[in-house]
Amino acid sequence: MEQFTGRIAVVTGGGTGMGRELAKQLAAEGCHVAMCDVSAEHMEETQAACRQLAPPGTRVTTHLCDVSEEPQVLAFRDAVKQSHATPCIHLLFNNAGIGGGGSMLTDDRAEWDKTFAVCWEGVYYCTRAFLPLLVAAPEAHLVNTSSVNGFWASLGPGTPHTAYSAAKFAVKGFSEALIGDLRLNAPHVKVSVVMPGHVGTSIVINSGIVLGRPSPKEMTGEDLQQVRERLARQGVPVEGASDDQLRAGLEMMAIAFRDLAPLSAAAAATQILDGVRQERWRILVGEDAIALDRLVREAPEEAYEPSFSERLRKLGFFGGLFGVGRPAPPAD
Ligand SMILES: NC(=O)c1ccc[n+]([C@@H]2O[C@H](COP(=O)([O-])OP(=O)(O)OC[C@H]3O[C@@H](n4cnc5c(N)ncnc54)[C@H](O)[C@@H]3O)[C@@H](O)[C@H]2O)c1
Repeated sequence: MEQFTGRIAVVTGGGTGMGRELAKQLAAEGCHVAMCDVSAEHMEETQAACRQLAPPGTRVTTHLCDVSEEPQVLAFRDAVKQSHATPCIHLLFNNAGIGGGGSMLTDDRAEWDKTFAVCWEGVYYCTRAFLPLLVAAPEAHLVNTSSVNGFWASLGPGTPHTAYSAAKFAVKGFSEALIGDLRLNAPHVKVSVVMPGHVGTSIVINSGIVLGRPSPKEMTGEDLQQVRERLARQGVPVEGASDDQLRAGLEMMAIAFRDLAPLSAAAAATQILDGVRQERWRILVGEDAIALDRLVREAPEEAYEPSFSERLRKLGFFGGLFGVGRPAPPAD
């Protein structure tokens, strides 16, 4: 599919970040967009930005839907069919995602389950719901967002990352398995798996909202104590830090993730859409993702050793964020 003009694209998680930029770039090309998100306010902003860029007659609709809840996904699908008066769609971007549920041993189970549900079941439910609409189009493309954590289940030593990595590996495996299934049973439908490296978005802040965590400013004694213990386990020197310093530090980490990234959400969306146009099934987004993919393939047995993260850091990737390149905490 070389052009998106006049097509219908469904984008999950269109409220902010890469989903918003995908919606904007698609709309600018005259592609009709139906987005969903859990934030009506953010979707309104995306819709307004799309309308500024889109040629007249381009439809941009917003739909409140939590992709981890199948009944909501089915209602979203029905609303898309109705508001776009269509029996088919041409593009499905399974983009919505959150980070959380780091440790199986020390983190809250509800957070683990919700992270896995949004990142994996969201992709699965939306694919199930929309696949007949993709098949009904003359040509169509399914685009599933995984992550570099879909082939490297780590954020570096000292930072457990189990729920997100498990879900993103599932998304990658599912997408790769669909290549053969679609080739056999619906060859006019293509599939791609998107694996971004570090992209500057508000995912850290948004994930906290979806998981019902208090914001750093709202954190009280017990929340702060848990954060303190978690950071200490990760080797961050927090002893001696006051509660206010801890709150400020947490805010700074979320802002640094967004503002100090090597790639903007807009540039990432352009790379994704280029990959779709070229019908590439594996779309690595960012130089860091390309380098990490190569390193993991070169030395899979070393991938979870501190020396591996050190090599990444020396190459200038993922510098210092979330423990990549930080020395491993002592094993006790
Ligand atoms: N930012 C990165 O560095 C990075 C790296 C690799 C992969 N990813 C993946 O890229 C995708 C987009 O993330 P982003 O960085 O643009 O983050 P983001 O937080 O800016 O955007 C994600 C959007 O999804 C929405 N969302 C969250 N849970 C939802 C749910 N249950 N139902 C519907 N919408 C929901 C959020 O409200 C938000 O608008 C995610 O799948 C993420 O895991 C991001």
